[in-house]
Amino acid sequence: MKIVILTGAGVSAESGLGTFRDKNGLWTRYDLNEVATPEGFARDPAKVHAFYNARRRNAVEAEPNAAHDALATLQREFRGEVVIVTQNVDGLHEAAGADALHMHGALSGARCAACHATWGAPLFMSPTDLCPSCGASSTRPDIVWFGEMPMHMEVIQSHLNEAGLFAAIGTSGEVYPAAGFVMEALRAGADTVEINLEPSGSAGLFHRRLIGPASEVVPRWVDELLSP
Ligand code: APR
Repeated sequence: MKIVILTGAGVSAESGLGTFRDKNGLWTRYDLNEVATPEGFARDPAKVHAFYNARRRNAVEAEPNAAHDALATLQREFRGEVVIVTQNVDGLHEAAGADALHMHGALSGARCAACHATWGAPLFMSPTDLCPSCGASSTRPDIVWFGEMPMHMEVIQSHLNEAGLFAAIGTSGEVYPAAGFVMEALRAGADTVEINLEPSGSAGLFHRRLIGPASEVVPRWVDELLSP
């Protein structure tokens, strides 16, 4: 059986990285139109780089928590395939030893807006950085902004079509296309479970809901899946 897992900011919350829409979340402190859209970047690239430089520094200083560790164990030990699709741009799934498809990109990546070359992002990026490939001063974080096409959508869709079990962990289910994955999984006949601190707006679409902090609930869920 194939398990497809979608993670959101809630899986990294207990690693200190915060979320977007909780109280004191990132979007309560920054205007996403200014720091997470192509238009905002065109208007003020220095502001956008400063926003992602701060998030990159927090992410490199963060440690995976028990939820990341449990998902890496599941991916390693489950008898079938376990696909982790993350909306997160931190590297905590990888730091825990898991592979993840980053549909919104990654803070560890940089991209040239002119020639589309990609490379490992330095800790701090600035508008005067030059692209290592074409030399243009048009480098940006390799992050998917609002209004841009998420990454890996074709392969994600094929995984969802083959899912026997779909789990959404630590996501409010507010942002598409990720918020629609549960419907794709239901169409494929998968069982569905939501693991979240509180029921999300789409909780009713899931067969099962496990409520609580990811670092406590996810290890218990993984133990259940791995027990003979
Ligand atoms: N354990 C489990 N769930 C948690 C925890 C926790 N410790 N803390 C918070 N949560 C839940 C919240 O209840 C909320 O439902 O995690 C969810 C976080 O929701 P959002 O802040 O909306 O984050 P996310 O769903 O990942 O946002 C999706 O929106 O802004 C864009 O690109 C950005 O990838 C992001 C996307």
